[in-house]
Amino acid sequence: MFPQVRMRRLRNGKIREMVRETSLSVNDLIYPMFIDENIDSPMTMSSMPGVSRLPVEMASDEAKEAADLGIPAVILFGIPSNKDETGSNAWDENGVVQRAVHEIKNELGKDVYVITDVCLCEYTSHGHCGVVDMEKEQILNDPTLPLLGKTAVSHALAGADMVAPSGMMDGMIKSIRNALDQNNCKDIPIMSYAVKYSSAFYGPFREAADSGYSFGDRSSYQMDPANSDEAIREAELDILEGADVIMVKPALSYLDILHRIKTKFNIPTAAYNVSGEFAMIKAAGRMGWLDEKKIMYEVLLSIKRAGADMILTYFAKDLARMLQ
Ligand code: PBG
Repeated sequence: MFPQVRMRRLRNGKIREMVRETSLSVNDLIYPMFIDENIDSPMTMSSMPGVSRLPVEMASDEAKEAADLGIPAVILFGIPSNKDETGSNAWDENGVVQRAVHEIKNELGKDVYVITDVCLCEYTSHGHCGVVDMEKEQILNDPTLPLLGKTAVSHALAGADMVAPSGMMDGMIKSIRNALDQNNCKDIPIMSYAVKYSSAFYGPFREAADSGYSFGDRSSYQMDPANSDEAIREAELDILEGADVIMVKPALSYLDILHRIKTKFNIPTAAYNVSGEFAMIKAAGRMGWLDEKKIMYEVLLSIKRAGADMILTYFAKDLARMLQ
């Protein structure tokens, strides 16, 4: 005890770095990309400065830029030309994500690991993540499962290295695992958005991915932000169904959840630093109220410290440049 023990002794000089417990590396990063079938030049988004929707033809250039910065992985979201009630463009072998994956893998091969978001919300006319009973305004769980399976298989056959279902349907990991296994895709891992909260932090993304909804909200399938034990059950079920990586989303307001999950299951764990978390920092930075670069670093470091092995973030390229 004081004065024998003085915590400040290790805070000066090189030893400060030697006792550092957490470090951020470019290897931790997954860079989200939005591919839009309806455009032929990049389209900027006002609430996500520096992030653009890209035409299919530019997907591999953008992935190459990320890979050249040392970022190991990208995750693709698609904006299709056609939406319908079941979201059938999602499993079209010539769909937007399938074409983009094909392009990227053709150009870059193993230089970039391609993950695809598997969800119907960008493809359905009502914007929900599953099949809907329009009369009752209900999102139907079980009829959605085979559609997610088909979608995942179509991504894998197009060349995706990993699929990431984000629709929060019960049993989705099991159905997708079965569908992949029955279609010669036994080696494709699944990163489950296992613990996904019904969050206002997704606001800017819905502009980015054109995935707003025509009625209600997503609270009948996404989690209540008040719950923590429920997150453990969600993660446990997905692990039992065969998930290889578990994701917590959003990240920043849910670091306690991330920590509980990593500590309890010791499974590779991802955290999604979502669009609203990105937009807040960009906005305050632009106002001159915060130092954007320092805040970005501190926030991403905190996500890593809480237990994330990998971080999906729109800051990926910025951080990669900073670490160079
Ligand atoms: C849905 C999906 C969402 C995000 C990723 N996948 C939005 C939602 O559930 O409404 C949000 C990502 C972000 O905000 O950055 N497929």
